[in-house]
Amino acid sequence: MATNLVLYRKYRPQSFREVVGQDHVVQTLKNAVRGNLISHAYLFSGPRGSGKTSMARILAKAVNCKNPKEGEPDNTCDSCKEIQEGRALDLIEIDAASNRGIDEIRDLKEGIRFAPTKFKYKVFVVDEAHQLTKEAANALLKTLEEPPSHAIFVLATTEVHRMIPTIISRCQRFDFRKLQVPEIVARLENIAAKEKATIEKSALQVLAGHSGGSLRDAESLLDRVLTFHQGTKNIDAKAIQELLGIVEVHILSEFVDLLSAKKTSQTVQFLNQNLEKGMDPQEFAKNLVEYLRRVLILKLNAELLESISPGFTKEQQEKLAEQAKNMEGKFLTEALKHFMQAEKDMRYADIIQLPLELAIVDSTMKE
Ligand SMILES: Nc1ncnc2c1ncn2[C@@H]1O[C@H](COP(=O)(O)OP(=O)(O)O)[C@@H](O)[C@H]1O
Ligand SMILES: [Mg+2]
Ligand SMILES: [Zn+2]
Repeated sequence: MATNLVLYRKYRPQSFREVVGQDHVVQTLKNAVRGNLISHAYLFSGPRGSGKTSMARILAKAVNCKNPKEGEPDNTCDSCKEIQEGRALDLIEIDAASNRGIDEIRDLKEGIRFAPTKFKYKVFVVDEAHQLTKEAANALLKTLEEPPSHAIFVLATTEVHRMIPTIISRCQRFDFRKLQVPEIVARLENIAAKEKATIEKSALQVLAGHSGGSLRDAESLLDRVLTFHQGTKNIDAKAIQELLGIVEVHILSEFVDLLSAKKTSQTVQFLNQNLEKGMDPQEFAKNLVEYLRRVLILKLNAELLESISPGFTKEQQEKLAEQAKNMEGKFLTEALKHFMQAEKDMRYADIIQLPLELAIVDSTMKE
């Protein structure tokens, strides 16, 4: 495997059609480019790693492309190439997180009066726009009130509630959503194939499930896995769980069996045996809460089995379904509360497994 670029950069989508999952945004932007109905200010809000920066760059290419096709950039003309190679003077990217943007916005106010050096549009991308200082935000607002016709602003933010409403109302707003496990898996399969890596689908499902809906994080995880398992013939779910320190499903499942049978001392013993073998207590608490949540969701709707247990084997899914069926609702919700509390308490506990042990006792020894 020859990666000299980190995967998430190497596989940054270069045209609208390559963007995963944000169909409503893609459709609207493509139509705008095609119909020459470009806004002067866009707001891209959404979680990290969902495609905001990528989309802003694609938009910058599309509006400046010499031969756009159906709203897509051709990726071969000079303008497209300059942007792709990160040397376009008319694409100005400002990171409001690094120095909160005071100097940049001042420069921007100066620079905005000048026409683009080469392109049709000067595109300003302000990343983490909610972090602009008050003065910078006000300066930006002034600019947005009367943007010159050659300027396009794209404000990106992960925390739209922290933006000032007057700025938001000046922009055409798009909400990016977290990516779903099947979408992430499909993208990772594609990348793995291009990297000529053999990795099982269940392994990719575990990875995707661990990424919190961020395709960027999923791709970084894949990077780690492929680097670590360089030359491995076949990478399976167990290998991923080990590498990421994810507690194996069968351990969680057995723990939950003992717990729901209210075998207090055996449950505590089982926990400690696994901790002695090197299981990470914090990770265990986190994974246990996730597992119990799955039981709860399945109790409410048994049909969700497939979608909430990515990376589980058939037997593990059957076991999960059985636990959901048999566990008493009240017991389950109480246990969830106790273990969520334990997960929090562990951060400050001197004896790190004590909050877990207490949660076991509290869950099983009521009355
Ligand atoms: N919707 C998406 N479609 C395809 N790739 C994506 C998407 N979102 C994120 N990625 C991947 O993650 C990387 C970082 O995405 P980026 O656009 O910078 O996300 P954001 O700005 O929302 O944090 C991209 O280079 C790409 O590899
Ligand atoms: Mg970004
Ligand atoms: Zn082009």
